[in-house]
Amino acid sequence: MQLLKNGKTKDVYKLDNGNYLLKFKDSVTGGPGGVVDPGGNLVVGEQDGMGLACLSMTTFIFEEVARRGLSATHLVAAKMDDATMEVRAARPFGQGLEIVVRFIATGSFIRRYGLYAKDGQRLSAPLVEITLKDDERGDPLINDEALIELGLASRDEIDQLKAKAGKIASMIEEIGRAKGLEIYDMKMEFGRADNGELLLIDEISPGSMRAYSGSGRVEGPALAKAFVG
Ligand SMILES: Nc1ncnc2c1ncn2[C@@H]1O[C@H](COP(=O)(O)OP(=O)(O)OP(=O)(O)O)[C@@H](O)[C@H]1O
Ligand SMILES: [Mg+2]
Repeated sequence: MQLLKNGKTKDVYKLDNGNYLLKFKDSVTGGPGGVVDPGGNLVVGEQDGMGLACLSMTTFIFEEVARRGLSATHLVAAKMDDATMEVRAARPFGQGLEIVVRFIATGSFIRRYGLYAKDGQRLSAPLVEITLKDDERGDPLINDEALIELGLASRDEIDQLKAKAGKIASMIEEIGRAKGLEIYDMKMEFGRADNGELLLIDEISPGSMRAYSGSGRVEGPALAKAFVG
């Protein structure tokens, strides 16, 4: 097994059959100064059970996405005893895009549009945004014209990315709501399979979303448990 990437939350290995093996780790991500923030770009600590929680939530959601026919996914098989997931290898868009779907305005949306929106304001429909995975430049927002101009994705791929992400996020919002959770926003990644088909890849786990219950923010293993049971 060849180690391809020692990531913040997962290690990525290449298997002999061409698939990848993702090893989910117990790392907790955050921002500068060690502030815990599931969306952060730094590892700020470890929490027992985090890797398994992320794997079990991702597996639950990816199986549900496939069952409902919302998108093909990279999931081949998950092994809870060693916190690994075998996945189909996908080609990223450039060095990777993040598709963000928002139900309630907060975070970077308010930092950008605070002149016109209030933190916590409900958006009239799921709002899809695309950002570049570029830690150095703070994961900037990118529009369709720039994606096409820079050769990162075609018009048809952008339309598919937005449509699939909107449906997947709405499914998760609905499942969360049934469990008493309010999902504010979430992010997900897609890649291309060998035949060009779009695959939902990476993970959709507590670190991918902001969720609240009546008593405040729900995070980490507690959020995974609310989804998976
Ligand atoms: N099916 C797949 N095919 C190819 N790459 C994948 C697939 N699934 C996940 N990845 C990539 O594997 C890496 C997983 O590691 P991890 O998420 O820990 O990285 P990271 O340190 O957070 O860095 P990144 O900012 O790239 O996410 C990510 O770069 C992710 O985009
Ligand atoms: Mg990552």
